[in-house]
Amino acid sequence: MNQFRIKRLVDQAFEQAELAKEDIKALLTADIAELDYLLQQADQKRKEVCGDEVHLRAIIEFSSYCKQNCHYCGLRKENHKLERYQLKKDEIIETAGMASELGYQTVVLQSGEDEYPAAEIAEIIKEIKNTTDLAITLSLGERDFAAYKLWREAGADRYLLKHETADQALYEKYHPGMSFENRIESLNYLKTIGYQIGSGVIIDLPGQTPEILAEDLLLSQDLKLDMIGSGPFIPHEQTPLAESKTGTVEMTLKFTALSRLLLPLAHIPATTALGTIDAEGRQKALLAGANVVMPNVTDSKYREKYQIYPEKICVNEEAGDCRQCIGGIIASLGREVSQTKGHSLR
Ligand code: 5AD
Ligand code: SF4
Ligand code: FES
Repeated sequence: MNQFRIKRLVDQAFEQAELAKEDIKALLTADIAELDYLLQQADQKRKEVCGDEVHLRAIIEFSSYCKQNCHYCGLRKENHKLERYQLKKDEIIETAGMASELGYQTVVLQSGEDEYPAAEIAEIIKEIKNTTDLAITLSLGERDFAAYKLWREAGADRYLLKHETADQALYEKYHPGMSFENRIESLNYLKTIGYQIGSGVIIDLPGQTPEILAEDLLLSQDLKLDMIGSGPFIPHEQTPLAESKTGTVEMTLKFTALSRLLLPLAHIPATTALGTIDAEGRQKALLAGANVVMPNVTDSKYREKYQIYPEKICVNEEAGDCRQCIGGIIASLGREVSQTKGHSLR
């Protein structure tokens, strides 16, 4: 694409936070070598909207049990090679306390689609709220609407439920027994009952086209997401997509930059998946519109058992190591760790 057209489209996105699907697609299709201006303007928008603060969200991976069979994911039920674990209530609360002591302002309670009792999750939320000043994000997949409500009433602030892909046929192909419609309805319902909502996309999932990625951005605008993340697809040996190609850093960065321009107020993480395929991946995303990092605080004895994809970073580190590492990365970019909870900017 010629530089005049790139400049015109990027300027339009920068000023109006709007682009036609065809134009988004054109930018996603352009060679990354031609797109310095896109990444630069996304960084500029991030600076205007978020300043130089980076928000940290501490992830507690509390259960690797999952009843679903997503074609791309190592936690899928049919991966019988994976040894499963589930933290007890007290361990989760203790880990949250430790995250708070490390200076984190948000914990993300994350698991596969486990059947962890809803009432027990509610008690955990209440106890964390009573004993710390943490904001709480839930990332537990799809549960019934009554559970979402119960947890919101217990004090949960945010819910992270990635839509993964905006193409219904592709979604349903890779998520046997699940419905795209229910995914979107869940996100809308969560928003209605007062959660800040986060979603996300897997980049370069086999069969995904730039057109579909453009639809992902338009859908994310429609959903009025408070957070939007994107990480490259990484093939896992014990899944049906074992032989497929790893996603690219380039496409992930283009998508990150467009996320910042089209959803200027969204929180955008530099994802662990991007840090896994490129040692500098998270740094690159932080320079292309991202303003959030989500370090792991799970006890190291469980980390290798939460293998969503292979060679996930930080498997041999402890919570304190990751906190320090991330602090270093942020400082090296001339940015700073936020001292606030980093609620939605909407
Ligand atoms: N590659 C990249 N991301 C993946 N996820 C699951 N499997 C993979 C993979 N192979 C992401 C999905 C899901 C979350 C658990 O991790 O986006 O929401
Ligand atoms: Fe389970 Fe989530 Fe993995 Fe799907 S992506 S198999 S729901 S952990
Ligand atoms: Fe875990 Fe860098 S964030 S070691």
